[in-house]
Amino acid sequence: MLDISDIKTIEHDVLIVGAGGAGLSAAIEASGQGQSTGIVMKSLLGKAHTVMAEGGMAAALGNVDARDDWKIHFRDTMRGGKFLNVWRMAELHAQLAPERVRLLEEWGAVFDRTKKGLINQRNFGGHRYPRLAHVGDRTGLEMIRTLQDHGIHQGIETYMECTALDLLKNEQGAVCGIVCMWRETGTFVIFKAKAIIFATGGGGKAWDVTSNSWEYTGDGYAMAYEAGADLMDMEFNQFHPTGMVWPLSVKGILVTESVRGEGGILLNSEGTRFMFNYIPERFRSETADTEEEAARWLAGDQSARRPPELLTRDVVARAINAEVKAGRGSPHGGAFLNIATQRSAEDIKKKLPSMYHQFKVLAELDITKEPMEVGPTCHYFMGGIKVDSDTTMSSVPGLFACGECAAGMHGANRLGGNSLSDLLVFGYLAGKHAAEYAKGLRSTSSFKTNDASRIIQHATSILNREDGANPYLLHEALEQNMQKHVGIIRTKEDLDIGIREIETLKEQYKSVKAKGASQFNPGWHEALSMRNLLITAEAVARAAQLREESRGAHTRADFPDERDEWLQYNIVSRKGSDGKMELHKVARSAPDPELERIAKSTIDNLEAEIATERGNA
Ligand code: FUM
Repeated sequence: MLDISDIKTIEHDVLIVGAGGAGLSAAIEASGQGQSTGIVMKSLLGKAHTVMAEGGMAAALGNVDARDDWKIHFRDTMRGGKFLNVWRMAELHAQLAPERVRLLEEWGAVFDRTKKGLINQRNFGGHRYPRLAHVGDRTGLEMIRTLQDHGIHQGIETYMECTALDLLKNEQGAVCGIVCMWRETGTFVIFKAKAIIFATGGGGKAWDVTSNSWEYTGDGYAMAYEAGADLMDMEFNQFHPTGMVWPLSVKGILVTESVRGEGGILLNSEGTRFMFNYIPERFRSETADTEEEAARWLAGDQSARRPPELLTRDVVARAINAEVKAGRGSPHGGAFLNIATQRSAEDIKKKLPSMYHQFKVLAELDITKEPMEVGPTCHYFMGGIKVDSDTTMSSVPGLFACGECAAGMHGANRLGGNSLSDLLVFGYLAGKHAAEYAKGLRSTSSFKTNDASRIIQHATSILNREDGANPYLLHEALEQNMQKHVGIIRTKEDLDIGIREIETLKEQYKSVKAKGASQFNPGWHEALSMRNLLITAEAVARAAQLREESRGAHTRADFPDERDEWLQYNIVSRKGSDGKMELHKVARSAPDPELERIAKSTIDNLEAEIATERGNA
């Protein structure tokens, strides 16, 4: 019988799970408030999906176009999210992003500069003005580097290659610890904490084609769900329009939106710049319908209309998908993305050094001379753990969530660049409020030892049973299923098949078997992640089946339009008392009238209002 007292425990006031931009921002704030702060990560410090947000962080600094303002950023974000965003989160994000970006600069981030020496900002889809503060096409990497340097010097403790398995709660139902496992040795460790922040990222590894790396297995969603937290908006999964499609070994790797932000154009196999044919009616007045107009906009003429390649990601991804389906795709089933004809080789190497290098090394292709082949890749979850907008606390006391694993900020579709600023803003808020919560508790509380034993026994049973399902095959079957039945275009028929297949995989998972011992055993780790992937996939597929409309990144071919009645609801998934997943249509609260007015103003009226305010100031 397992004796829990043999398991090592480590104690912190605030414990963070996940060391991407959100986790590091939270850790810096919590430790800055004098709380003993630890950060547990499945991988190595510096290795997080944050680095896949390459093009920049969106903040209304107004360095390139002084007319920018938090209100316009807020308006763009709400429109990009098809008004399903949590209004207060989008407000906080737009208001706080500029100061968080400036702070990052103070901490040493080496941003690209304007001629006047200010942080440079570039165009991105759905943003009215050049708004993305950037470091070439390596912005996420620079963010992580800066935050980890700052955090380590401030004294946060880091625990690398340590996988979180499940949360522990006290008798009152508040979170008070988490069971983890050292990946190298397979030994268990229990972290006790007054508050726990999840910054665990998304779950793109449920799909076959994804920009996510091996860590993104929906761990935070599944652990929060198992602990009784609500998940929200799980049907909204962003397919970034441009991932590599060739060679197959690198299919899905991100091709940053900055290629289009710097002027790259999309062409089909007939050489047609097809995005001009996919401008939705409601964007016609804002989007260029001639190439000359698009070129003027990219050259910095803000009175010109934006190029259609910079429509929001959902629109561009569906357009590429449609071209391929119509037989006008590139040889390997994507579209051509051409920057070579639009910018000089010198500019390309300066503004897009990683893309230049990535294609040279991985595809033996020189992007200064030839077009890239690109296609949609599962990139980001808009949905996640339901949190309070101001404090970021989930429906389980003591459990906070921020970054991609939290729901609400981005609604039905995220604008590119809003993720890095989300990590800075909500990471900071999570750290602040978790620290305040922890300060209100005298000590960490005791967890229920039976819970810890159950978690550990579930993990070791995967090694100890005689035989059973192979975790790698289960994972592959799930990826194929999600790609085929819960993909970019969905129907009830497909979703029904997808859900049935997930149920079959769940049954098989009950007897999953990893061979070998507990010391560094990738098969065991894969099997442990599968539990999380299956919960994540089920929440996505069931919510996608329930939402009978198309909105943002969720496209139902059988319900092709946005339906007003669905704007009234979020879909919440939670674990029912019978252990099964329950889905609820939860009515959204009415927006603050002032925020609603700002988001629904015409751009001309809003710009005039801001100019008047500034004139009066
Ligand atoms: O395309 C990109 O550089 C990705 C940015 C993002 O997801 O925010």
